Amino acid sequence: MRARRSLWIVLAVVIAMVMMASAQAPKKEIKRVPIKPTSAASGPEMYKTYCAVCHGTDGKGNGPAADALKVPPTDLTALAGKNGGKYPAMKVSAIIRGDDVLAAHGSKDMPIWGHLFWSISAGHEAEVQQRVANLNKYIESLQKK
Ligand code: HEC
Repeated sequence: MRARRSLWIVLAVVIAMVMMASAQAPKKEIKRVPIKPTSAASGPEMYKTYCAVCHGTDGKGNGPAADALKVPPTDLTALAGKNGGKYPAMKVSAIIRGDDVLAAHGSKDMPIWGHLFWSISAGHEAEVQQRVANLNKYIESLQKK
């Protein structure tokens, strides 16, 4: 992990979008941009900065980048509902960290954030854990009742 850190700093990206003005409908394209630093203490700030572009500000999966993806972003407000009413905190944190690779579901559209957080936290594992925990708490707060 440590040896690969500099590589991840170079590769640190989040997704931004450009609207391509074409003759008919504007075409969306996913563009990778350097990751923006955020406070590890703020779940909402990290969510808005890193996740809302795909999952939507409300978490329902309708962010501006959603229709440019092959696989639609998951409705994050329905995670508890799909899990018998219990928010799957362990699973979500594994997904955010990239331990639980969604490519198993045939998608590479969901970025692996563990590496990116590692790079913006300059390799401090405790801070990465804080990021994942606060994001997780924020997503839990979005669950529909
Ligand atoms: C580039 C678009 C994109 C961004 C940005 C993104 N996601 Fe996702 N996410 C997806 C897609 C697409 C899926 C569905 C993947 C699949 O089903 O294979 C997904 C799935 C998930 C899931 C899995 C839910 C389940 O079905 O169990 C979680 C949790 C999740 N994202 C959290 C996040 C968090 C937290 C962030 C921000 C740190 C984030 N995502 C940023 C596209 C994105």
